[in-house]
Amino acid sequence: MNTITITCDPLVDAHVHLRTGPLLRTVAPETARYSDMALVMPNIAPPVRTVDDAKRYELDIKGVIRAASEAMDATFRPWFALQLCADTTPQVIKEAAADDSPVLAVKYYPPNVTHGKSDVRDLQDMRPTLSAMEALEVPLCLHAEVPGEDPLRAEAAFIPTINWLVQTFPRLRIVVEHVTSRAMIEAIKGWPKHVGATITAHHLFLTFADVMGARLHPHHFCKPIPKTPDDLIALREAALEASPKFFYGSDSAPHLNAAKRSAEAPPGVYTAPVAPMLLVDLFFHAGKPDAFRRFTRMNACTFYNLDETPAFKLTATCDLTAQEPPTISQKEDPHWFFAGKPMRWQVTRTTL
Ligand code: NCD
Ligand code: ZN
Repeated sequence: MNTITITCDPLVDAHVHLRTGPLLRTVAPETARYSDMALVMPNIAPPVRTVDDAKRYELDIKGVIRAASEAMDATFRPWFALQLCADTTPQVIKEAAADDSPVLAVKYYPPNVTHGKSDVRDLQDMRPTLSAMEALEVPLCLHAEVPGEDPLRAEAAFIPTINWLVQTFPRLRIVVEHVTSRAMIEAIKGWPKHVGATITAHHLFLTFADVMGARLHPHHFCKPIPKTPDDLIALREAALEASPKFFYGSDSAPHLNAAKRSAEAPPGVYTAPVAPMLLVDLFFHAGKPDAFRRFTRMNACTFYNLDETPAFKLTATCDLTAQEPPTISQKEDPHWFFAGKPMRWQVTRTTL
């Protein structure tokens, strides 16, 4: 058998939805299997709004991972984003910035862009909080879409809001989450170096036609919506170049199949079990192993000031002789992205 084997560091997932209850039990180990650090999003019900909320959620997550695997528990460090709410005061930011806080950032969702609730209509109403974040170096993560806009244009329409943020709070650290358009990528490059962006794995593989081409594919439906082939090229170029501004955030966002297959499917693509294989495939076939490391780990560690020492290793293998690559299997509800499609690479954990 002619096999390529590559050893690499675990991924740092700078944007993931781990959910609560039974869904948390199903999905959290899939992230911990391949990542030693993750920034966990706050849009659970009720949302994560305070450091105490984050500490409670951390206990739940750690408990679930410990029950699944002591080895994974020993190597997985969840970090948290608080949800920006009308009552996120400068005092909340001060607590978030404390040394023993598991909070790394504050996440803003405009109202009605996804299913998460938000009571902040206009960021201009949050000036004292944003000033505190600027002073205490707490990054602002943005779901950058204008509510009510045409979904294909909603991200580009948010650029003026970020221009306002950059001008009004010149030292505020900003991460534009799950970018999907050439327009936003160009804008990111033009802003100062403390304004970065995450890119998901699925947005490196999908266009609008994969969501709504000959058939409707609810498992490809997410926000921001995948866009044109030209936008896909811009995303791939940014990821494969892996300049310090761009890093991996899976936005792995599981929803149960019954909801996804209903008449009103919620947005979100569940990628945690397959994203490492997709990214290895993309970067190593492009001949970019160094960019893989920067994009999936180093850039996020630098931006968030995290210790980059890996807690374990990943082994990626590819069987070159296989006539037909094996397909990605589907374990259980919720549906995995890329399930049933051929995948040349397998990725497994190795202890150090
Ligand atoms: C996310 C989810 O399901 O929580 N969905 C998505 O399409 N990205 C919400 C979000 O990230 O805004
Ligand atoms: Zn998300």
